[in-house]
Amino acid sequence: MKGLIIYHSSYGNTKKIAETIAESLGESGITTDLFNVKNVKKLNPEDYSFVVIGSPTWCGTISFPMMFFLWRFEGKKWKGKPFAAFDTENPEGLANKEWSGAEKIAKKLKEKEMNQILPVLKSVVIGIKGPLQEGEIERARKYAEELIAKLR
Ligand SMILES: Cc1cc2nc3c(=O)[nH]c(=O)nc-3n(C[C@H](O)[C@H](O)[C@H](O)COP(=O)(O)O)c2cc1C
Repeated sequence: MKGLIIYHSSYGNTKKIAETIAESLGESGITTDLFNVKNVKKLNPEDYSFVVIGSPTWCGTISFPMMFFLWRFEGKKWKGKPFAAFDTENPEGLANKEWSGAEKIAKKLKEKEMNQILPVLKSVVIGIKGPLQEGEIERARKYAEELIAKLR
C-alpha cells in the first residue's frame, strides 16, 4: 500500500504536519510519496491507495498554490480513491473561526467523487508564521494512526 501526500506551506508549519503524517505512516510500514505542491509532476492514480492533502488556511479557504493544483487535479481518474485533508490555521481574531482550508479541500475532493475516510485535521499555529501550537505534532501523529486504522 502506498499513499500520496501533497502539501503547500509558506512558513514550514503545514510541511511539518505533512512530514509527521508521512513519518508515522512509514513507521507502520505504509510508504508514501510526499510532495510540496510546487514540485508535483505527473501523477498516476494507480500508483496510490490513498491521498492526503494539506494547505494553510488563507482567508478562510485553501491557499492559492493549493487551489491552482486542485483546479488541475483530474478528478475523474481519482474517483472513489480514499482521502484525508488537513490544514494549519491561525484562528485568532477571525470573525468566523469555522472557516477552514481543510474543509474546503474535502469539499473539492468530494465533488470529484473521492472518498473521505476521516474528518479533517486542523492544526493551530501561533501568529501567521507559526510555530505550531504545543501538542499539534502529537495530534498529527494520532491522526496518522486513525488513518492507518481506516486503511487496514
Ligand atoms: C494571506 C494569508 C491569509 C490567512 N488567512 C487566514 C484565515 O483566514 N484563517 C486562519 O485561521 N489563518 C489565516 N492565515 C494564517 C495561516 O493559516 C498561517 O500563516 C499558516 O497556517 C502557516 O502555515 P505555513 O507555515 O505552512 O505556511 C493566513 C495567512 C496568510 C499568509
